[in-house]
Amino acid sequence: MTDTESDGNGSEPLVKVDNLVKYYPIYGGLFRHKLGDVKAVDDVSFEIREGEVLGLVGESGCGKSTLGRTLIRLQPATSGEASLAGESIFAKRGSDLKRMRRRMQIIFQDPVSSLNPRMPVNDIIGEGLLAQADRENGWRNRKARDERIGLYLERVGLRRDYARRYPHEFSGGQRQRIGIARALALEPDFVVCDEPVSALDVSIQSQILNLLKRLRKEMGLTMIFISHDISVVRYIADRIAVMYLGRIVELGEAETIVDDPFHIYTRALMSAIPQPDPRVERSRQRILLRGDPPSPLNPPTGCHFWPRSPVPHDEEMKRVEPQLVEISPGHFAANCPFCLQRAS
Ligand SMILES: Nc1ncnc2c1ncn2[C@@H]1O[C@H](COP(=O)(O)OP(=O)(O)O)[C@@H](O)[C@H]1O
Ligand SMILES: [Mg+2]
Repeated sequence: MTDTESDGNGSEPLVKVDNLVKYYPIYGGLFRHKLGDVKAVDDVSFEIREGEVLGLVGESGCGKSTLGRTLIRLQPATSGEASLAGESIFAKRGSDLKRMRRRMQIIFQDPVSSLNPRMPVNDIIGEGLLAQADRENGWRNRKARDERIGLYLERVGLRRDYARRYPHEFSGGQRQRIGIARALALEPDFVVCDEPVSALDVSIQSQILNLLKRLRKEMGLTMIFISHDISVVRYIADRIAVMYLGRIVELGEAETIVDDPFHIYTRALMSAIPQPDPRVERSRQRILLRGDPPSPLNPPTGCHFWPRSPVPHDEEMKRVEPQLVEISPGHFAANCPFCLQRAS
């Protein structure tokens, strides 16, 4: 199931990320001295065009959430630059930052813990509107807020009168719809969807995915869509970035990444997906990785992938850090000669 509706082609980048780094310092021992840094995001650069959905995939712990959260300033970056429509995201302060925040929203994975159980839906969605109220939008006015809340409840497929209810009165899928309404009611330009369907039943996942697909078109949204599951990402993303241990190892058009991946890690992710066609499924060859992902507190030197790769690396690539290079137009991969081997 590939999606060919590429809305973003050809337009200017709306989001630009340059050499983004996020380390979490770790302290311990008797005197709480610094033990080291968790290198959660380690020098990542990419662009997202206006109206485009960039998928972000990789195993749990590879830094996807950290990247999304740092980018929209839910936490400070260690270093690097990021911009939204040409304006620096990290340099904004005070009321400029507040205005910038409205334009960047997030949809969380867990629709249970991300909604305050003591608040009715009206307040859950209204909170963000109130925080952003100014003379222009008139959201200080209760009626104006209620009108918008009702509008966005309908947009996500819920009834207006659900605004009076509390989170526990809803199913998991409905709660995620509320999370989506809360983010979109602010009419952001850029939305980070952090595993928005991973906590839902499989039968509900496609409903929420279809909703996001429709809304993204209707509202012309630019998105990062995060998932550990490449079969989910391919369904909605125009382009896909594959992350491993804090770095992007491959980036390109979704179709290219899915059908013609170069990096052995991407091929391993793809080979793990069961195929619906039984004949194809029988001939599916799994690429098995060795061991578990190493700790980002102490990542391997050189090509981060060498301890797990089924292809043995030489001493040089255990020392030299690969760079993301353009191997064909718009298709980037980390240039480790042992990891870059075509599927066919
Ligand atoms: N607040 C934090 N403090 C310390 N380490 C963190 C924090 N948040 C995440 N990490 C670590 O950073 C790494 C990346 O985590 P995360 O961004 O959540 O990955 P993903 O979303 O891909 O699962 C993991 O090793 C995780 O344990
Ligand atoms: Mg995560």
